[in-house]
Amino acid sequence: MPLRELFDRNVEWAEGKTRDDPHFFRRMAEQQSPRYLWIGCSDSRVTANDVLGLEPGSVFVQRNIANIVHTSDMNILSVLEYGIDTLGIEHIIVCGHYGCGGVERALGSDRSALVDHWLQPIVMLYHKHRAIFDAIKDPRARAARMCEINVQMQVRRVAATPSVENAWARGQTLHVHGWVYGMHDGLLRDVGPTLSGTADRDALSSIDDCVLKGASPLSAVQIQALEAFCEHAAD
Ligand code: CO
Repeated sequence: MPLRELFDRNVEWAEGKTRDDPHFFRRMAEQQSPRYLWIGCSDSRVTANDVLGLEPGSVFVQRNIANIVHTSDMNILSVLEYGIDTLGIEHIIVCGHYGCGGVERALGSDRSALVDHWLQPIVMLYHKHRAIFDAIKDPRARAARMCEINVQMQVRRVAATPSVENAWARGQTLHVHGWVYGMHDGLLRDVGPTLSGTADRDALSSIDDCVLKGASPLSAVQIQALEAFCEHAAD
């Protein structure tokens, strides 16, 4: 597509928005008051607003490869601080996705690119529990399991940042969630944990225990419902 076409599409989009809601852009220009902070993967197929069915102005977003929370990453720390202290967001959602190329790479052996430094927390967890992950014979299922575990690990990391701790200490309402998105069915799964204060966080089992426990964090009811939906969708 020629780049010029993107500008044409942009004009069409802005016109359509204004037609549906004449005050949309005036409202947008005045302020943003998102309730949600989304920490997701850069993958082009997992766009926060679309997945949540929300308009611009509803979600404060930070995306990077494999939705990793590096506690020395100025970008994510600034987003957390601004989101919590200034915007007053109430929910931080760490959202991974099945079929994540970053997670798949971390389970492989190629360490030749810059991104391998970025993926290091997943790589280290994999190596530490290699026997358990490698016992999952289907590579897609193995990567899916790591996608879930990775989200659970990043929720723990978010909850350990001073911005989140300080918000909880002053009594601010703030919940941290761990979700995984299925690109094959468009559905979100809550794989937990959900944390609403330091007591929740400190009572959590370690990420190593989560790996050792093995079971998918989805409840049997959830899995059944999702399978039924997929079958129906395929009809
Ligand atoms: Co990804």
